[in-house]
Amino acid sequence: MDPCQVTVFGAGYVGLVTGACLAAAGHRVEVLDVDRSKLEVLGRGEVPFHEPGLADVIDAAVAEGNLRFGHPDDMAACGEFVIVAVGTPPTTGGAADLRFVRSVIDLVARRAAAGTVVVMKSTVPPGTGGRLSQVLAPAGVEYTSNPEFLREGSAVNDWFHADRIVLGGAVAAVERVTALYEGIDAPVVTCDIASAELIKYASNAFLATKISFANEIARLCDRLGADVDQVMHGVGLDPRIGPAFLKAGIGYGGSCFPKDTKALDYLSSVNGYDFHLLKAVIDVNSGQRLLPIISLRSALGDLRGAEIAVAGLSFKPHTDDTREAPALDIIETLTADGAHVRGYDPVGRVVLAAGSFEQAPTLADALRGAQAVVVATEWPEISGADWCELVATMREPRLVFDGRNCVDGAAVRAGGGTYVGVGRR
Ligand code: UDX
Ligand code: UDX
Repeated sequence: MDPCQVTVFGAGYVGLVTGACLAAAGHRVEVLDVDRSKLEVLGRGEVPFHEPGLADVIDAAVAEGNLRFGHPDDMAACGEFVIVAVGTPPTTGGAADLRFVRSVIDLVARRAAAGTVVVMKSTVPPGTGGRLSQVLAPAGVEYTSNPEFLREGSAVNDWFHADRIVLGGAVAAVERVTALYEGIDAPVVTCDIASAELIKYASNAFLATKISFANEIARLCDRLGADVDQVMHGVGLDPRIGPAFLKAGIGYGGSCFPKDTKALDYLSSVNGYDFHLLKAVIDVNSGQRLLPIISLRSALGDLRGAEIAVAGLSFKPHTDDTREAPALDIIETLTADGAHVRGYDPVGRVVLAAGSFEQAPTLADALRGAQAVVVATEWPEISGADWCELVATMREPRLVFDGRNCVDGAAVRAGGGTYVGVGRR
């Protein structure tokens, strides 16, 4: 395919990866963002967040002259493809906030030439695309839904090795977008817009269901003396179930699962259907974050003045993203109880408005003198640390609550500590 002109709105995890990878394929891409501080960072040749491999892709595409960054106010012209990747954060009621998406669509309706195709990557509730296409139709602009399945921490690899490309919309527009993705060897699922939108929500809801299911089995393991890692390993070997997303722990976080499960629950309710299973998934997930608190209170009693470490702050390894990270809730609860908390993460940063929290420069600094530690993220640096040595630097009762079942319990005990996992014998 000849190089296309592509405009991407949103230089976040999804937009920047998409723009950079399309530019790497030879397309001429402009990535626009309203956040001027982010543009400044990009202008200096840096990446505003931690995403393995992304800097190299951006550097190469910029050097080729295929990738530019700018503010929507300064946009010279819309490309023939407009990719929307601005955030759709949750409102307090749980619905998806579509303000940013709508403002981009209004701008495109005013500025784009007839024949432009909009590619919606932001996660929007089923039914949204139908309404947005009506805003674009008078300008002769086509609308397609192209939900994104990139995982943070492996987004670049996921882009080049996608497991599917989902495209909803009119046949001609969908064919043009398919051609844009030439070179990515993945099955293309074409469907109507609402179905494409629902594929994204249903996928995330199902993955969240697997996690909450594993977490409920873990609760049962604790009561029955079984080991959840062994149980889920055995369960996952059934190819009808599969081994992925069966890891028990303090539950899912991040910018997608918590938001998308709540938005789907909300959408079901306002459409007259009570999605019982999804409600339970959300409920189980909230409960998992309480497990370390319960364990710490039972080991230490009153947490006022207690010295507690939290190992891992990001919602999962290989990202600096702390949005909806279990560690945040745990730190907030502990500091509200009067504990002094020291956190450590290889790249994630947490700033608390209130409460006694500080970030330590190393894992060893976070743990030294702590009475208990909550392992909240399974970074290799954390799971692979010498826990016998680390625990020996802690103070009694040297409790290690392993919220990701990633630490060697025997090493903790060898260092004089008490190990508590989630459903782990
Ligand atoms: C993306 C999707 O867009 C979201 O709907 C999906 O559920 C998760 O993935 P993500 O890339 O993680 O979101 O979001 P974020 O990293 O917050 O990036 C969004 C970017 O859009 C930010 O840089 C923000 O400054 C920018 N933005 C926001 C705009 O450029 N214009 C706006 O009006 C609003
Ligand atoms: C998710 C989807 O996987 C991706 O397809 C979608 O596009 C965006 O949302 P992401 O949020 O980057 O990706 O992370 P993911 O790897 O799915 O993990 C989400 C959360 O689930 C993390 O907090 C992780 O720790 C947790 N998790 C994952 C578990 O608790 N157990 C598991 O077995 C797997």
